[in-house]
Amino acid sequence: MADALRIGIAGLGTVGAATIRILTSAHNELSVRAGRPIRIVAVSARTKGRDRGVDLSGYRWHDDPVALAQDPEVDLVVELMGGSDGQAKALVEAALAAGKPVVTANKALLAAHGQSLALTAESHGATIAFEAAAAGGIPVIKALREALVGNTMRRVSGILNGTCNYILSRMEAEGLDFQQCLKAAQELGYAEADPTFDIEGYDTAHKLALLTSLAFGTEVDGDAVYVEGISGVTPLDLEMAEELGFRIKLLGVAERTAAGIEQRVHPTMVSRSSQLAGVMGVTNAVSIDADPVGTITLVGPGAGGGATASAVVGDIVDLARGNRVATFGRPSNELDKPVRAPMQRHEGGYYIRLQVMDRPGAAAIIATRMAERGISLESILQKGRDARRNANGSVPVILITYATTELLIRNAVAAIAEDGVLDGPPQVIRIER
Ligand code: HSE
Repeated sequence: MADALRIGIAGLGTVGAATIRILTSAHNELSVRAGRPIRIVAVSARTKGRDRGVDLSGYRWHDDPVALAQDPEVDLVVELMGGSDGQAKALVEAALAAGKPVVTANKALLAAHGQSLALTAESHGATIAFEAAAAGGIPVIKALREALVGNTMRRVSGILNGTCNYILSRMEAEGLDFQQCLKAAQELGYAEADPTFDIEGYDTAHKLALLTSLAFGTEVDGDAVYVEGISGVTPLDLEMAEELGFRIKLLGVAERTAAGIEQRVHPTMVSRSSQLAGVMGVTNAVSIDADPVGTITLVGPGAGGGATASAVVGDIVDLARGNRVATFGRPSNELDKPVRAPMQRHEGGYYIRLQVMDRPGAAAIIATRMAERGISLESILQKGRDARRNANGSVPVILITYATTELLIRNAVAAIAEDGVLDGPPQVIRIER
């Protein structure tokens, strides 16, 4: 059998501990599968003494993660620290500069610095493997980068944040409030260290930026993603969605349009009969629409120690076998500069919830502002005057539009607000048919 692959792991949180558990408990079987033993030799984390439920006594401890990367007995570095800059970036740069392959789950780091890190990797004969950085246990990176290499991608979309999907699912099913569900997701180990990354959509945006690069052969452009999170979704929106035959999901969507590459993350009304609508709880799903294969939807656990560690170990074994693929699927200097499609040119249907003063003529004003911009309405729904009318004398009115543009919708909603018929901020949720 070939020489052992000696690995160093930096970051010993939920995923780090789960990775150690797999590599130790399945050591013999993994050695056979990889064709060589895989041995953990060194670890690093912020706090040394903490009980992580795994035995670290056989591994060299480094307080400084950069020292772990430079340890001459470490052949491969696993980065599970998180964070787009600081120590995680220094560790990855040090490992790549030493020609060592890196396995990382760090989507924030790659969304911000993917292009420069891929260049560093190439110039030192190293590579970056990041299956765990998007959609947890779903092997979507391998699918896009390797298995589907014979295709031209049209669109990649999906539910990429387990925390948000868990929160929306529980709010809908149990009528719980947002904060209660967020707390439960944190306790289950799904949420990021700073949960704003989850609920405000940044985590999804980071993952989407990586999938976009792989799908369209473009440099990672994390800043180009339009981002809206789920904190503004109300129980009334979830109730209306159900009544109208939709379910609300936080979607990440990347597609090539006439205006360039559109990358967007926002709460979305999806038809209740669609595959994505059926994806509940912490589960993620990614739909890839490509030519000639057609549409492939991958569904699986998107967060949590075991699912993410499964992807980390998959990458480690791949590298142990000697599989080397360019970080973003092609040499970095062959990645195109992406043309960003402005969100204002996005085309689609819209759900608009307005809190409207209950007086004659209000509905006529709303209809006029829409008609002036050529926006065609599929339905208008006013919810029960008695049950829903609030103390100010306003009632919720829901509009569903046919396909139009983001720019026209924003203009129309701003004009309605100026007309003085609203009692509270409008809610706008895009519809994917
Ligand atoms: N916080 C992430 C999620 C975990 O909820 O999906 C892995 O990225």
